[in-house]
Amino acid sequence: MLPSELVKYKNSSQKIIALTAWDSISGSLAEASEADIVLVGDSLAMVCLGYKSTLPITLDNMIYHANSVSRGFSKKIEDQPLIVCDMPFLTYQCGENKAVQYAGKIIQNTFAKAVKIEGAEPEIQNVISRLIRMGIPVMGHLGLTPQNYLNLGFKKQGENLESQERIKREASILEKLGCFSIVLEHIPESLAKEIQNELKIPTIGIGAGDFCDGQVRVTADLLGLNDEQPPFCKPIIEGKKLLREKLKEWVTSQKLS
Ligand code: KIV
Repeated sequence: MLPSELVKYKNSSQKIIALTAWDSISGSLAEASEADIVLVGDSLAMVCLGYKSTLPITLDNMIYHANSVSRGFSKKIEDQPLIVCDMPFLTYQCGENKAVQYAGKIIQNTFAKAVKIEGAEPEIQNVISRLIRMGIPVMGHLGLTPQNYLNLGFKKQGENLESQERIKREASILEKLGCFSIVLEHIPESLAKEIQNELKIPTIGIGAGDFCDGQVRVTADLLGLNDEQPPFCKPIIEGKKLLREKLKEWVTSQKLS
């Protein structure tokens, strides 16, 4: 699937489902689940590499992990999920030329067909517009933008009128710039619903209620693999507890055998 084809899901009865992946095992699980999009999100810095934020991850790390993810796929290329790769911190904040070079490196060296960029400040708008004109599809990301956590924390956004108006304005700007979809993270459901109604491109929510055209989840959160869980993701299994208990059982049984 090409990024531009996602628009067919706008207002359709079928939601777009995106799962994150960071290695060949999570990539293989995401593909087998029939997720439409596999996001190689920079959250892998936290859920896979043990960092406290997404800021330390580098471009080379992202390329390395994006390639591990696609090595986990086993379907024919045309049946594989669309891979979107996050542009990590400092790859698009330092101007348009660097951003084209770095996003191009992702596209050239992985099977990703699009990049995701957080925010919509004027400098970021220029970058997004340039990338799209240069042939690199961009997924936007508004609301809680973890690369800006030193300013905003990991807090819910859009809690007051000013912030709501800004997020709405930014969503419409990202659409005009040519983003093929926008992730809305940790904002009130009513705000996400308004944006979903106003835009022609699909919105993909995480902690943004049920009205977006799609949902994205960090797979490690969904599987309960982390010690700390974001407030907006209820795990479907307590993966870490289960695996820890089973491994301990096995180790104990082997010691006594
Ligand atoms: O990095 C990531 O996993 C993300 C999702 C939270 C959307 O950006």
